[in-house]
Amino acid sequence: MDNKTIAVVGYGTIGESFAQLFAEQGYKVKVSDVRDDLQTLIDTTNERLGADANTIERADSVEDAVEGAFLVQENGPEKLDFKQEMARIILEANPEAILASSSSALLPSDIARDLPDELAANVLIAHPFNPPRILPLIELVPGDRTSGETMSTAREFYDAIGKVPVTLNREIEGYIANRFQKRILDEAVYLLSEGIASAEDIDRAMKNSLGIRWSVVGPLEAVNQTTPQGFAATVRFIKPSFDMIKDVPSPDYDGEETQRAAEKVAEAYGQTASQESKDQRDLYLQRVAEALEGRK
Ligand SMILES: NC(=O)c1ccc[n+]([C@@H]2O[C@H](COP(=O)([O-])OP(=O)(O)OC[C@H]3O[C@@H](n4cnc5c(N)ncnc54)[C@H](O)[C@@H]3O)[C@@H](O)[C@H]2O)c1
Repeated sequence: MDNKTIAVVGYGTIGESFAQLFAEQGYKVKVSDVRDDLQTLIDTTNERLGADANTIERADSVEDAVEGAFLVQENGPEKLDFKQEMARIILEANPEAILASSSSALLPSDIARDLPDELAANVLIAHPFNPPRILPLIELVPGDRTSGETMSTAREFYDAIGKVPVTLNREIEGYIANRFQKRILDEAVYLLSEGIASAEDIDRAMKNSLGIRWSVVGPLEAVNQTTPQGFAATVRFIKPSFDMIKDVPSPDYDGEETQRAAEKVAEAYGQTASQESKDQRDLYLQRVAEALEGRK
């Protein structure tokens, strides 16, 4: 790809990490955000990148950031009206760019709803996991008018910078990985609020079992490997155990059950996560990612 310029719109948790990744991969990165501390944040990232890497540049506006970019990674707030308006601003300023939204659950057809066909063709979801610089997955989701060329160019690009792209055949809220995450978090909140185990032990149970297994074989392949007769036989074999587990309804995340769980999480890990805990997470994630290199 000849054009090596990427715009990052929104420089919060996800935007900052993406910008660092793109710069490390040799791209020219232009950033737009409305936050007062933007320059300080960019300076800190540039320091981390070191003298040999490309530096991240601050743009004065979204229009300025996206000028000349082949791809715009949009990492603004998770609100449909914000993303619709941002899509219009970005693609009117640069109709040639691919608009890749980091949205966690919104549908790309909704984000592109008010755009003419020729601009809607450039819109897709490119959903990372936090932090995008380290966790390889990127879920590529087409809307009803996204072009095949947009999807294949995006896939080629993310693949080339070392991410592991997954392409959905059609859009669905939450894509794949956040649908998994929701089911598991619902269950964790239930177990914690019911006092079945401590927050640390619930986390430990995941980290030391499925967390490790699923980073090597996914849930479908794992089941396929469990009995010599394969998937259908294994599911029949597991069924009596699974039938014992009564499904619990999703907790109300604004409700009492979640509040009880939140208090216990705060007791275990502090009201807000320390920078030290996040640095340690990133250190171990980096090691895991390195250990798993070569496995797709
Ligand atoms: N945090 C996660 O774990 C995670 C993971 C995957 C995807 N996402 C998605 O990524 C997106 C960003 O999430 P985040 O966690 O980084 O949020 P965040 O709140 O940390 O960052 C959002 C940024 O957008 C900026 N912004 C607001 N209005 C703007 C404007 N008009 N122009 C430019 N920038 C503007 C804010 O100042 C802020 O810095 C969301 O769509 C979210 O769903 C988040």
